[in-house]
Amino acid sequence: MPTILRALQADITTLAVDAIVNAANSSLLGGGGVDGAIHRAAGPELLQACRLLGGCRTGDAKLTKGYRLPARYVIHTVGPVWHGGASGEPELLASCYRRSLELAASAGVVSIALPSISTGVYGYPIELAAEIAVSTVRQSLQQPSTVAEVIFCCFSANDLRVYERALARTAA
Ligand code: APR
Repeated sequence: MPTILRALQADITTLAVDAIVNAANSSLLGGGGVDGAIHRAAGPELLQACRLLGGCRTGDAKLTKGYRLPARYVIHTVGPVWHGGASGEPELLASCYRRSLELAASAGVVSIALPSISTGVYGYPIELAAEIAVSTVRQSLQQPSTVAEVIFCCFSANDLRVYERALARTAA
């Protein structure tokens, strides 16, 4: 069955999907943006669980339960900080999406929502990031996976338009 990929404007902490992805930092000890929103909504057990993970390298991802979130799991990934695009940022951003999908499949996740990783505090230009997000997810789903629904969760109407264009451009 083909996987459904779609863009949605929403607060990711409200989505009742199997897993939501968190745009974290390498400490995994919380922060602002979507990281702060997810920790606030999941409750203190999330931070306790994250403390046991020993951090996370940029481009990698680690899975925890979702605790008080409607989502069953949180997949924490650390995106690259934008330094102009010649310091490996595209490859590291692609790795965030690839590793998140790998962890999702290993946990038997069917539906997953991902924020626009690195495009907030980390300054990654949204158009470039959306292109990488959509193409990397499509490529990852060429491998056998339990994932049947992917939601690119956008926090603004502008981001939603960018993701919808990226999805239309690369529609199978
Ligand atoms: N739901 C969905 N998307 C959200 C939400 C939310 N509740 N809150 C913010 N976003 C969006 C932002 O608008 C942006 O498009 O998530 C995207 C990623 O932005 P950030 O959260 O700033 O993440 P990032 O750019 O990857 O920077 C990570 O910021 O919060 C800290 O601890 C985090 O140090 C890390 C850094």
